[in-house]
Amino acid sequence: MNNISTSNNWDTSLYEDKHAFVWQYGEDLLKLLNPQPGESILDLGCGTGQLTEKIAEAGAEVMGVDYASEMIEKARQNYPHIRFDVADARSFQVDKPLDAVFSNAVLHWVKEADSAIASIHKSLKSGGRFVAEFGGKGNVKAIATALYSALESVGIAQAQVENPWYYPSIGEYASLLEHHGFDVIYAIQFSRPTPLAEGEAGMANWIKMFASPFFAGLSPEQQIEIIPVVEEYLKPTLYQQGTWTADYRRIRIVAIKL
Ligand SMILES: C[S@@+](CC[C@H](N)C(=O)[O-])C[C@H]1O[C@@H](n2cnc3c(N)ncnc32)[C@H](O)[C@@H]1O
Repeated sequence: MNNISTSNNWDTSLYEDKHAFVWQYGEDLLKLLNPQPGESILDLGCGTGQLTEKIAEAGAEVMGVDYASEMIEKARQNYPHIRFDVADARSFQVDKPLDAVFSNAVLHWVKEADSAIASIHKSLKSGGRFVAEFGGKGNVKAIATALYSALESVGIAQAQVENPWYYPSIGEYASLLEHHGFDVIYAIQFSRPTPLAEGEAGMANWIKMFASPFFAGLSPEQQIEIIPVVEEYLKPTLYQQGTWTADYRRIRIVAIKL
């Protein structure tokens, strides 16, 4: 097994090859966005651009931004007819106010929610909409618990670990949106157990893709040893008939700029 990258660098091949479920589930969110021809829409945290392309297919003038330059490079290769730029959800700015900001599976990486919501609010026209899905309170709780237990087994206490995720409750996030001048017209939180591709390798791939910051304090040898320990903890609950399932819990919201 290769060492796990514990930096913020996204492995675009691993993302596109093994985690297509992220944007496949995101297609439901597109129905909520309901993009119209000619509307100006930003796909915030667009990754490799698959949902940005769907918004373009609806006839909207869409642009994708992501803070990971490797994601933006891949998105440009995938869809050269669409504009993609490197920008951070916490500080991005747009040239002209937008009809909508769309964001799938991004905002649980953005702990500075206040800054992100302020930037989103500023970028919208009055009456413009913000449509997003992300991990909510309790998302991947079993996986996080197993990660902490496995780290403890090699002498790393929970307090020493940098947890990269922000999973707010629906009440917390809706309140933040209201505080920034949004009218929250739709908000749900729901469990969505998510089957992972690649059979027995599914959980290891998921951990390498999304949980690598947990391993920042480990030596390369420890990194190699840790994933089987996590799998061992999770097998009784999240592995059935050759398929791993991630215990996802999502928030979906639609908010209008007042
Ligand atoms: C799981 S991917 C989702 C990508 C895409 N929205 C999709 O549905 O396929 C999460 C994306 O969020 C981006 N991201 C995380 N934090 C960000 C931030 N502060 N600003 C912009 N993008 C961010 C990552 O670089 C990554 O591309």
